[in-house]
Amino acid sequence: MLESKIIIRVIVLGLTLIFGFVLTKLGKPYNTGLFTVHKLLALAFVVMTFLQVKGLDVSSGSGSSGISQLLIVLIIVLVLSIIGIFATGAMMSIGGFNHNLLRIIHVITMSTLVASFGLLVLTFKL
Ligand code: HEM
Repeated sequence: MLESKIIIRVIVLGLTLIFGFVLTKLGKPYNTGLFTVHKLLALAFVVMTFLQVKGLDVSSGSGSSGISQLLIVLIIVLVLSIIGIFATGAMMSIGGFNHNLLRIIHVITMSTLVASFGLLVLTFKL
């Protein structure tokens, strides 16, 4: 059960990445279908992660000790990187901004999201 939840989320995240790279490769104007799939997969991943994190007992672990503080920090990082990735994704599709800079931020926030999600899984067996 636990493993299958993790596997499904890793697959959804992996597919989001693949569709992102394909989008970049094909360039502008973006293929509407691919772009929609990329966005929906990202949204699905975010919703699944949110539901899992919501179910966590933040006060679990050893009271006010390191573990719950780490959990709070990871959740903040996760939320910030999700906001970053959606904001840059939307701006890249609208255009008119510095596309390369946005792309760099999109990839950095993406890496942060993957790293914080990975840490949450490893630490709290989400
Ligand atoms: C979990 C969320 C997301 C992940 C992991 C993700 C990942 C990626 C990756 C890896 C790329 C390829 C970047 C490159 O080749 O340099 C990409 C490209 C792109 N993504 Fe996302 N993305 C996410 C969410 C979004 C969202 C929500 C949007 C739109 C609102 C979006 C819009 C785009 C666009 C427009 C491109 C093409 C950029 C280009 O032309 O270089 N992404 N994404």
